Amino acid sequence: MDGKNISDSIREELRREVEGLRQKGITPGLVVILLGEDPASQVYVKNKAKTCNELGYYSDVVRLPAETSQEKLLSVIRKYNEDSRFHGILVQLPLPEHIKEKAVIDAISVEKDVDGFHPVSVGNLMIGDDALLPCTPTAVIELLKRTGNDPAGKHAVVIGRSNIVGKPVSMLLLRENATVTICHSRTPNLPEMARQADILVVAVGVAKLVKKDWVKPGAVVIDVGMNRLPDGKLCGDVDFDDVVETAGWITPVPRGVGPMTITMLMANTLKSAKRSIG
Ligand code: GUN
Repeated sequence: MDGKNISDSIREELRREVEGLRQKGITPGLVVILLGEDPASQVYVKNKAKTCNELGYYSDVVRLPAETSQEKLLSVIRKYNEDSRFHGILVQLPLPEHIKEKAVIDAISVEKDVDGFHPVSVGNLMIGDDALLPCTPTAVIELLKRTGNDPAGKHAVVIGRSNIVGKPVSMLLLRENATVTICHSRTPNLPEMARQADILVVAVGVAKLVKKDWVKPGAVVIDVGMNRLPDGKLCGDVDFDDVVETAGWITPVPRGVGPMTITMLMANTLKSAKRSIG
């Protein structure tokens, strides 16, 4: 599954839609707030700003020193909550240790929560309301649908239970009428569980954990992992070379889920902009 190609075609759809919206006088706006100098975060933030430019969005990047106080950060967020030029607010995670992530996420206006991390957004996801949905889980669903792998009636096994990926992707798969099993570090006999999957989603952050004996022949394997090897190369949670012959479909790392995630962020920002005009 070529996430880059699929992502490019969705971006083209978004670009056209943004053009139409701009003719009505609305430019979707996204602000990204970054604390500190974490190199991975710097790359992510740069890519987000670049994508905004390419697709005709209005964007702002706020870079604050790592020692910025929580109160200062909250006041910046409140300012953007009130600023109608911005339809999306994203605070890049992880945050420095002295800042409570929950307080920061709670401060973002639900209407502008393009990460889908606010408790109200999470609640809406559970209930099935049309919330702003978290980007990586949505990217997984979009990849499945656009490659003709409708989850309906399939057995989806998710390895990982994080708030950012494992839990929400499980809920989205359920919404798409899959039967969902959630596994994690305390699940006995993980390989056997994984082998039951028609769709296997892996989001644990352990390089090359999943081997070919974890995969049912013909299964769809979605690798959400992004691990840096000692030689500097990126690799996923799935041992791609080992699994590629067994799987029916598999996402590579890089060029798999990653490029789709920013695209889903752009789609959320557009959705929020459209909602702001009713
Ligand atoms: N850091 C790594 N992934 C993410 C994400 O999806 N959203 C935010 N805000 N920060 C991240």
